[in-house]
Amino acid sequence: MPNPVLSDIQLDPIELNGQEPYSQHVNPIWVKLLDVLGMNVRYTRSNGAELYTNDGRVILDCLSGYCVHNAGHNHPLIVAELMAEMKAQTPTMLQSNVVESAGQLASVLCEQAGGKVSKAFFCSSGSEAIEAVIKFARACTGRPDIVYASGAFHGLTCGALSIMGNDFWREDFGQMLDGTHAVPFGDSAKLEKLLKERKIAAVVLEPIQAEAGIILPPAGYLANVQRLCRKYGTLFVLDEAQTGIGRTGRFLAAERYNVQPDMIVLAKALSGGLVPIGAVLMTDIIYKSVFHSLRRAFIHTSTYSENALAMRAGLATLKVLRRERLAERADTMGVELRDHLRASLASYEMVKEVRGEGMLNGIEFQAPRGVSMKLSFEAFKAIHPALFGQILMMRLFKEKNILTQICGNNFMVLKVAPPLVISEQQMHHCVAAIRDVVDTMHSSAAFWSDALNLGRRAMTA
Ligand SMILES: Cc1ncc(COP(=O)(O)O)c(C=O)c1O
Repeated sequence: MPNPVLSDIQLDPIELNGQEPYSQHVNPIWVKLLDVLGMNVRYTRSNGAELYTNDGRVILDCLSGYCVHNAGHNHPLIVAELMAEMKAQTPTMLQSNVVESAGQLASVLCEQAGGKVSKAFFCSSGSEAIEAVIKFARACTGRPDIVYASGAFHGLTCGALSIMGNDFWREDFGQMLDGTHAVPFGDSAKLEKLLKERKIAAVVLEPIQAEAGIILPPAGYLANVQRLCRKYGTLFVLDEAQTGIGRTGRFLAAERYNVQPDMIVLAKALSGGLVPIGAVLMTDIIYKSVFHSLRRAFIHTSTYSENALAMRAGLATLKVLRRERLAERADTMGVELRDHLRASLASYEMVKEVRGEGMLNGIEFQAPRGVSMKLSFEAFKAIHPALFGQILMMRLFKEKNILTQICGNNFMVLKVAPPLVISEQQMHHCVAAIRDVVDTMHSSAAFWSDALNLGRRAMTA
């Protein structure tokens, strides 16, 4: 039977029955956490850097879904390209054809990445890309082991978890991959000691460690890692899932640090926040070591890799990035944002540092010195190490309509990573809101007592 014609379709409104089905069948603990934090709002629309709720709130997104919405929410050009793809009714995925848009996206990515990479493998998430990196590095070098940096975040599948720098994420999940080694981020001497054994297939690093607390690499570190990798026959891999696609003020952070990795992981922002995507850019030598004969033509793949919607969204996102010069914008506005944050927060003893590159920024807090605040702070920590940061984030959300988060592996660092399209006015609103909340934290006993009560309730909920 032929399909009905698209223009004849009348859509019934989707009837949602509130959050009960989610609580019943998906993840009730998540609902509870959002309730406790006062963040369980219903979003109806999003546009640029703003989120709109059903009760009329306009929330400024300073998290970007963990660096997904670089081009802003629902960028009209990316939406239009996706609608055109759907209207054209091409087969979005067959796994039985040559996907020309994948070729197009790969060639643009490799060209923009510069350096040594000339092939792309597509998948549907950052974790999946990391899995590919581990397999490809082993195939290419014939070596088993992988080195990663303490504090790193590379994803939650088993391979990615095996190179994650925080035991919390692995707890209860059993045996991970053998032969993975952590080194301190920034310590070339410890790395060289491991590389000398010539067992290491790849060193996998985030150029700027995001979840570890927006940790910038020490001067010359990444270039030194690259040199050591070349010396000992190890592949040098940068995970740019968060730092890529203009986020740090360059197309890739690799460019900022003048390195040419053997493999580059992309994900998140690559498809404009609208379709799942992941990618590994790699050298020809790596590609050939994996896909070296007809027998192995699809030795590593996954069902939705190269799907037409993700590829089209990727091409459209790169177009937006170029047309709107978003990387350059992130670079200049990032400097301005950090300058304003530093100036506004300089006098507060709990603010240790404001740091970042482009629109990937963090505010690090430290324990207070004054007795009364110190006691409250210690009480917070005793309830849960993340409580202080969560309260800060919650106040920003509830009182100032700012959405952000603390870093996943460093609870003392608040992220400030808005979409790259954020306006000057929105940026000033964000800075003023953070300053107000930090001021309340330093000046009002109620900040600490309210928060302590809430923290205790949360822990017993
Ligand atoms: C640097 C980095 N790599 C990989 C991942 C995993 O990506 P995904 O959540 O798409 O699997 C993340 C996720 O936050 C990440 O930050």
